[in-house]
Amino acid sequence: MEIKVIIGDIAQIEADAVVVGLFEGVEKPSGAAAAVDKALDGAISSLISRNHIKGKFEDVGIVHTFGKLPARIVAVVGLGKRQDFTVDKIRGVTGQFCRALRKLNCHKVATILHGAGMGDVGLEVSAKAITEGALLGLYSFTKYKKPEYEDIAEMLIVVREKEKVPILEAAIDKGKLLAEATNLARNMVNEPANHMTPSQMAEIAREIASKYSLEFRVFNREDMEVMGMGALLGVAKGSNQPAKLITLTYKGDEDSERVFGFLGKGITFDSGGISIKASEGMDEMKDDMAGAAAVMTAVGAIGQLKPKINVTAIIPATENLPSGTALKPGDVLKTMNGKTIEVISTDAEGRLILADALSYAVKQRLSPLIDLATLTGACRVALGTLYSGLFGNDQELIDKVRKAAERTGERMWQMPMPDEYKEQNKSEVADIKNTGSRYGGAITAALFLAEFVANVPWVHIDIAGTAFSAKESGYMIKGATGVGVRTLVELALGEAKNREAV
Ligand code: BES
Ligand code: MN
Ligand code: ZN
Repeated sequence: MEIKVIIGDIAQIEADAVVVGLFEGVEKPSGAAAAVDKALDGAISSLISRNHIKGKFEDVGIVHTFGKLPARIVAVVGLGKRQDFTVDKIRGVTGQFCRALRKLNCHKVATILHGAGMGDVGLEVSAKAITEGALLGLYSFTKYKKPEYEDIAEMLIVVREKEKVPILEAAIDKGKLLAEATNLARNMVNEPANHMTPSQMAEIAREIASKYSLEFRVFNREDMEVMGMGALLGVAKGSNQPAKLITLTYKGDEDSERVFGFLGKGITFDSGGISIKASEGMDEMKDDMAGAAAVMTAVGAIGQLKPKINVTAIIPATENLPSGTALKPGDVLKTMNGKTIEVISTDAEGRLILADALSYAVKQRLSPLIDLATLTGACRVALGTLYSGLFGNDQELIDKVRKAAERTGERMWQMPMPDEYKEQNKSEVADIKNTGSRYGGAITAALFLAEFVANVPWVHIDIAGTAFSAKESGYMIKGATGVGVRTLVELALGEAKNREAV
């Protein structure tokens, strides 16, 4: 879809549909909605007074113009209660009206800048959010099935101020880049595990690297053996697919030694291994590389935006399958940093592969470290599907991540990491074991990871609840959400030394 800024009056635009907004409880439309209402001889006010259009958040009221306007349809999108309005709601309503208009066969859609001027929402903030909302909300995974509807080919953002066009175009470009990186992550996650193997992930990383001039490395089994990555190799033992440890490096700050480490869990399929999962819903476990996909595409986006910062993405990638050669409960593994792990459940494999990946990151002197992982069902139980679990050993870094997440609308909730729960990870036979008790499972998993970051500032984001959406709503579609991509990019931009330039 092409997104363009044009100067004009929304009521006069030639398009299949024009979109205006309405806050809940407002009886008389104002601004652009009022102009359109007038051209329609008061049809919108009349529908409001009859309670057909209420302005409820993400409702899309369709009004046919029957020739009164150049556009065939006017969509009145509900912005919800004025006092509850946020930038993220702009993304939500845009995703919603775009899908509604796509169903109505609209190919060319014109919209105003929803929310611009509300509080501190500037025109460019709205333009970026509309771009993200449209591209994320219209996403569909069409590789193996024809799409149900034809795409909206063109979206016009209609403004009155000519002098604003350049900054709006820049905002659209940035929104587009972020949405495309997120949609690429979604594609990778939605791809079935017979296609999205560790080798395929390495191939995609190679492509991202060559497109955006990043350094790319891939380590194979022999390399990992030399480095002593017994935990990652232990998980890989049950599979015929070779495991890969993939790294992608963006260097934007030659003057600094500091390199951020973004780590992503890359289990391309999690059957549970010998501690096999129930078969119902097991297909969802192709999503267990969502963290890996997010860090890869985030670094790709950073490579395009070129902030003055250095970042390395590290992706431990393997399948987790049962077989005659598979890891077994009771086995003891030795990690790269020398610690030994007793495997209680082969289904707690994410923390095993991350133990080696984190040890590698520490050895490479990366700092700070941020990992994204579909780590525990317990996190989904604790926080549901809207909030990712946020953990870490450095409150300042946690706050930075949380603030970056707030700007993107990706909801995260900080979880505690009390020392007392470390007891649960104690083993009789090894330095640590890979599962605790039934309770506080997301926390004991985070405490396990903390054992492998030494004193490096580190944040762990458990995306088990948020990586996958069971329903369509706002700019979320069914399936992979691409969670984390925009937060990581936002964080990198905020930490960059040429912050103003990007
Ligand atoms: N990949 C799963 C976690 C998961 C569950 C992600 C549901 C998305 C949705 C992880 O590897 C896992 O199996 N965790 C176990 C840990 C347990 C054995 C300690 C879990 O959550 O049951
Ligand atoms: Mn598992
Ligand atoms: Zn897993």
